[in-house]
Amino acid sequence: MCGIVGFIGNKNAKEVILNGLSRLEYRGYDSAGLSLFNSRYRVFDVFKDEGRVQKLIDSTKESQFSNIGIGHTRWATHGKVNKENSHPHYSQTRRFIIVHNGVIENYQQLKDQYLKNSSFVSETDTEVIAQLIETFSQTLNVETAITTTLKLLHGSYALLILDSNDPEKIYAAKYKSPLIIGKGDAGITIASDLMALVGYSTDYHALDDKTFIVARPDNIRLFNLNNESLDFHFKPIELDDSDTTKGEYAHFMMKEVHEQPSVVRRILTNYFDKDASLIKPEIIDQIKSSDRIFILAAGTSMHAGLIGKQMIEKMSSIPVEVHIASEFAYHQPLLSKKPFFILVTQSGETADLRACLVNIKDQNYPILTITNVPTSTLAREASYALELFAGPEIAVASTKAYVAQVTVLSLLAYELSSKNIDIKKELSIAATSIENFLASENIREHVRNLLTRRNCFFIGRGLDYFVGLEAALKLKEISYIQTEGFAAGELKHGTIALIEDKTPVIAIISDPKINGNTRSNLKEVQARGASTLIISTRDLAYPDDDVILDPVHPLLTPLITVVPTQLIAYYAALERSYDIDKPRNLAKSVTVE
Ligand code: F6R
Repeated sequence: MCGIVGFIGNKNAKEVILNGLSRLEYRGYDSAGLSLFNSRYRVFDVFKDEGRVQKLIDSTKESQFSNIGIGHTRWATHGKVNKENSHPHYSQTRRFIIVHNGVIENYQQLKDQYLKNSSFVSETDTEVIAQLIETFSQTLNVETAITTTLKLLHGSYALLILDSNDPEKIYAAKYKSPLIIGKGDAGITIASDLMALVGYSTDYHALDDKTFIVARPDNIRLFNLNNESLDFHFKPIELDDSDTTKGEYAHFMMKEVHEQPSVVRRILTNYFDKDASLIKPEIIDQIKSSDRIFILAAGTSMHAGLIGKQMIEKMSSIPVEVHIASEFAYHQPLLSKKPFFILVTQSGETADLRACLVNIKDQNYPILTITNVPTSTLAREASYALELFAGPEIAVASTKAYVAQVTVLSLLAYELSSKNIDIKKELSIAATSIENFLASENIREHVRNLLTRRNCFFIGRGLDYFVGLEAALKLKEISYIQTEGFAAGELKHGTIALIEDKTPVIAIISDPKINGNTRSNLKEVQARGASTLIISTRDLAYPDDDVILDPVHPLLTPLITVVPTQLIAYYAALERSYDIDKPRNLAKSVTVE
């Protein structure tokens, strides 16, 4: 969940690293740090503190030129948010300096077994790695000291390591946490995310687990943990500055909300050649030969999975179960005879899902990962992968990735069905409906009048209920208003006790079957003083409804009804002056369980 960037080459490393860290800050923003070589004293200086990358930029203004360095933004796992626990960490004599993304589960055991005589300055698991390398380097050469250490670690790591005795090298290694090597005219950049490489590298290689590299300014070598040499597989980087900047928008979240129509269209372009689907027939055949689909995911992606279940069951009649990844990983339900697994994940790095993947693979079941990051761990380790083509999602609150997940799941459902709808046309209509809503929305005004309390409810039935769950997550995660998504009919079975004067209740209505029922539930809460807001599709709208959307195919309504709810969350956070793109306690890409 942390961001790491290292650079070695012919430029000032500070510039590359600080730019990279700013772009990766969405991965963790409790603290930031940097290490640069000080040629005067022949040591690596370490600058670090709690707080954001901007603070680090200010504190390193005076530092001198260094062509080598490593940096880090942290999302705290072991130890409080403070300077001591910030990265980089160093070994006792300060010979080795390291940054780390991941969690070392056996760090206490390693400390007890190998490091009884070492003194520690932080509470982190990371410091143990630096101390182990130093201890082993007393009898082994550095590369072997590093691989010996790596072999002892249980958990996950993406690591960059500097050696003060040899300041012309960066060592890098990875297991379970992502690490990408970029090369370009300026030199070698190594980071936990492609975005940090944009502008400095033209090509990248995504490091495999249990491999490590030794990078010099003019040469880079790849090894496995037995020190056997391996080949790189570089590919061109296709991102550019427009993918990593806010453009005309004040926040990435707003930019990403507005990108949603083009994301739907981009998916159509990438998944069809004229009318022929580009999804591998093998995937469809394998799903069709299964007797049950299990969709596993977390958070917003799990909400997309719930929509996917409805779409697949309604279009293809294959039964689908949706499970929360962190629950499935350790409490596997009874499986059917021939299950097929679909992992839905924006980042492709979610640790809860990886725990599921390891179990499923052990049982030899087929797995399809639907992800925005084709180089991610979960894409690479699954039997098949489908890409979301949403472009980098930088706001921590997911919006366009959700819409992309629902779109790709609709294509999968379509491919599994007897194909009696024109899916391309229906998705294009949905893209236009989103566009029309965004062109004329007045959500901010509604938010000002409605969200005056510390709590809020979204209600709906069927697909609208699932969108309500996502709407509630979005609102709570960025505005900190306690919000629940509720099946409209379930409210009266207990939770209606919480409704009092001016409690906000937002209803989503896009299904003719339940229009009347949900409106009756609205009357029940209005009678108890609730302030209500109604989002409906034009075919079902009553004259006083607050947000009226152009109708779309009944199975695709989540693509459009979710959009006003994303803006409700956005404006609620804006009204409260919260940091919309980086909400408290959160980080993009949850790589710890
Ligand atoms: C909320 C959000 C999270 C993620 C969840 C899973 O806005 O983004 O709930 O959906 O952490 O992440 P991925 O999709 O990367 O597996």
